Amino acid sequence: MHRRTLLLAAAALPFAALPGFAAEAETTIRIMKSPTCGCCTAWADRLAAAGFTTEVRNVGDEELWAMKERLGVGGDLASCHTAMAGSYVIEGHVPAADIQRLLAEQPAALGLTVPGMPVGSPGMEMGDEREAFDTLLVLADGTTEVFASHS
Ligand code: CU
Ligand code: CU
Repeated sequence: MHRRTLLLAAAALPFAALPGFAAEAETTIRIMKSPTCGCCTAWADRLAAAGFTTEVRNVGDEELWAMKERLGVGGDLASCHTAMAGSYVIEGHVPAADIQRLLAEQPAALGLTVPGMPVGSPGMEMGDEREAFDTLLVLADGTTEVFASHS
């Protein structure tokens, strides 16, 4: 292959829309979580209620944190669980509607995160208590922009 073609192909790879990708595969969310995390399970339930198929895998904390770093959602961007929706990483208590919009719009990005664990976010319900939070779009260079604000 010509060198330039090769580079272009490599550059396009992370953002490939994968036209042949099965539609149902995009509605499957693969969730990696610590076995002791209850709010992660509650979040998975919210996604299932919104029509997603969920696959939950329990992993040790060390593996989970290494995975966050590798996927670009470590440090300040981290929350409890780490999930994949198609080729996008979904970190923390991201509302189902935001994931649906992400999959519909297919932006060139790594994925979404709701850093920390805001009270009142899906899976973090505590009575009527609600903390305003933003869902952030994580770009390939590690910067973020606000994808959706929730109050
Ligand atoms: Cu949590
Ligand atoms: Cu969690």
